[in-house]
Amino acid sequence: MPPLTHLAIIMDGNGRWAKARGLSRSDGHKAGTTAARAIVQECRKLGIPYLTLYAFSKENWSRPKQEVGFLFTLLKDFLETELPTLLQQEIRLHVLGDLNGVPLATRTMVQHTMNKTALGTAMTLNLALNYSGRHEIVRACQRLLAQKVAPTDVNEELFAQHLYTAGMPDPDLIIRTSGEQRLSNYLLFQSAYSELYFTDVAWPDFHASELHLALQDFAHRQRRFGATGEESA
Ligand code: FPP
Repeated sequence: MPPLTHLAIIMDGNGRWAKARGLSRSDGHKAGTTAARAIVQECRKLGIPYLTLYAFSKENWSRPKQEVGFLFTLLKDFLETELPTLLQQEIRLHVLGDLNGVPLATRTMVQHTMNKTALGTAMTLNLALNYSGRHEIVRACQRLLAQKVAPTDVNEELFAQHLYTAGMPDPDLIIRTSGEQRLSNYLLFQSAYSELYFTDVAWPDFHASELHLALQDFAHRQRRFGATGEESA
């Protein structure tokens, strides 16, 4: 199996999962949270050093106000419940995205969890929150310009240091659930050579066994990073 240091997931399909069962979208998101909890545990068990979950995109603000509010409350409750486990398992929480735009109660809980778990060394759990890949790239440009970096000094490594993922490896594998086959503004710079895995399974049904299927598929991928894959002479 090629090395897997960073797994990123687009947790899609909570709404459709709920609709198919005659439940509310909120019920779908609740079930999605249960799935997220189990996948974090499984990744930790497997020793995957970085896990990134797409919790809320900048585009998600266009959803009904009530759903947006529910998602942030759910996230706050999730962190509150999970904090002891994160500490016990030495999992560090990190956020990719613009935390300033996040409602106060959730922002406070996120910051508290990040502070408390800052010394966790077993795994980094990134939550992409109020996140947009294009915005992240524009933000990196703004930061470089603000530092008056000379154009000739800008290279890919320096640029990457101004992304939310500074110092982290690029995702080796990106999983998207629920049948859609697109990146939806996720980790645009970092995904240049990521392997992609799509499954029809909706996020609430993405149990550990589904993760293992994705990892088995990944195990057969030949990662060439633009090379031929043949030994050079
Ligand atoms: C996609 O389902 C999911 C989201 C927009 C948010 C993901 C949130 C959770 C899994 C719950 C909270 C997060 C964490 C990390 C605990 P959708 O609503 O787009 O589904 P649909 O496409 O079927 O409507």
